[in-house]
Amino acid sequence: MRSTVGPTVTWLHLSDVHFCPEKTGWDAARVLRSLRRDLVEMQDRHGLHPDLIFFTGDLAFGHLPDSAIEGQFEEGMRFLDGVRKSFRPTVKRDRVFIVPGNHDVNRRLVSSMETEWLDRQESTAGAETISLLMRDNQRVWRFIAERLNDYRQCLERHGYRHLLADPARLVYAVRRNISGFQVGIAGFNTAWSCCREKEKGSLWLGRWQLETLRSALEECAFRIALTHHPCNWLRPEEDTVLRREVEQSFEFHLHGHEHLGWADRADRHVRIAAGACYEHSTMEAGYSFVRLEPSHGRGEVLFRRYDATGGGWVARNVHGKAEQDGRWPLKMPWLNPRLQQKVEAFIEAMYRDEELTQEPSFARVSGDAPSPPLVAGHNDPIVIPLSASGDQGSLQVEPKRGRRSRFRKTGTV
Ligand SMILES: [Fe+2]
Repeated sequence: MRSTVGPTVTWLHLSDVHFCPEKTGWDAARVLRSLRRDLVEMQDRHGLHPDLIFFTGDLAFGHLPDSAIEGQFEEGMRFLDGVRKSFRPTVKRDRVFIVPGNHDVNRRLVSSMETEWLDRQESTAGAETISLLMRDNQRVWRFIAERLNDYRQCLERHGYRHLLADPARLVYAVRRNISGFQVGIAGFNTAWSCCREKEKGSLWLGRWQLETLRSALEECAFRIALTHHPCNWLRPEEDTVLRREVEQSFEFHLHGHEHLGWADRADRHVRIAAGACYEHSTMEAGYSFVRLEPSHGRGEVLFRRYDATGGGWVARNVHGKAEQDGRWPLKMPWLNPRLQQKVEAFIEAMYRDEELTQEPSFARVSGDAPSPPLVAGHNDPIVIPLSASGDQGSLQVEPKRGRRSRFRKTGTV
């Protein structure tokens, strides 16, 4: 792993463990025991001690006649305690953040009447009705929200008070000071309307959630949104609007549910999907660490996967993305406002000089590049050394393809 310079923010992202001792207990125990061994090794080998642990839903498998959901949650909590205690020092419980998933719903408490009513809501008016339902927290909401009673009670029993500021809706906005950075964490509830067999595009979030959590986390250095489902599982009425707003309001969006570790970027936003910690030992299991260096506008995700043939965890390399040690670099100059300001001012000056009309897109930041003079030709990356501004490394900015970029300039920031 690359050595870091300056303060870091590190988190561990786990998801979708689907505990069901009566069904898959022995198999899950094998995979998850080796996961805890891998965490110990990651700390020993790479110094990875998480400041925060995120679990993005599906702790339980779901109530079955021979496996009560209460027992599944108990097993899940034992697992999370084991994860916290794998590190030295132990990660405190108030640094662990969980959101509910569709498997955490007790479907015995869901009636077809509720589902039909939710599915009948349509268009902007329907989305507004759902938002008000959640905001007002009256009888109908409380009736629907009963399906997450077991999840709520489990958090209460195990002392996760910081996740229960709003026990009726099971959402939270919490701040934690990590290495001098005020980090805002928003726990969303995307599971409250779950109960169907196939429900991609059928779930409601409730705009109220987004507005409430977003406004509670203003002034943070950066904000992390935790959801179980990715946005495309929401109703189209919400997906199109809320996806954009999540990208604009949160620098990071972490989710689970799709059982595939992945990272992608929008403007000033990174979305990180988690693999499933456990589904069955024959299916790919995964988890990830993220280490940020906010002052340098960079970071990396380390994806891990369970290797069933060897019975242990290994780096999950992805061709063209994470080719060494499962290390997926993240370039985020916007994490450091001072760095971002300098780059923007520089680009602006360059445009002024060259009478260009379109903005370039920030393509990547390289912390390892030497400090060459800045040279920009037609469609070439622009390399901006930052040593003159007191920052280390350099920025590379790629002009957008197809525009009339005809500038050639040499200089330093
Ligand atoms: Fe799920």
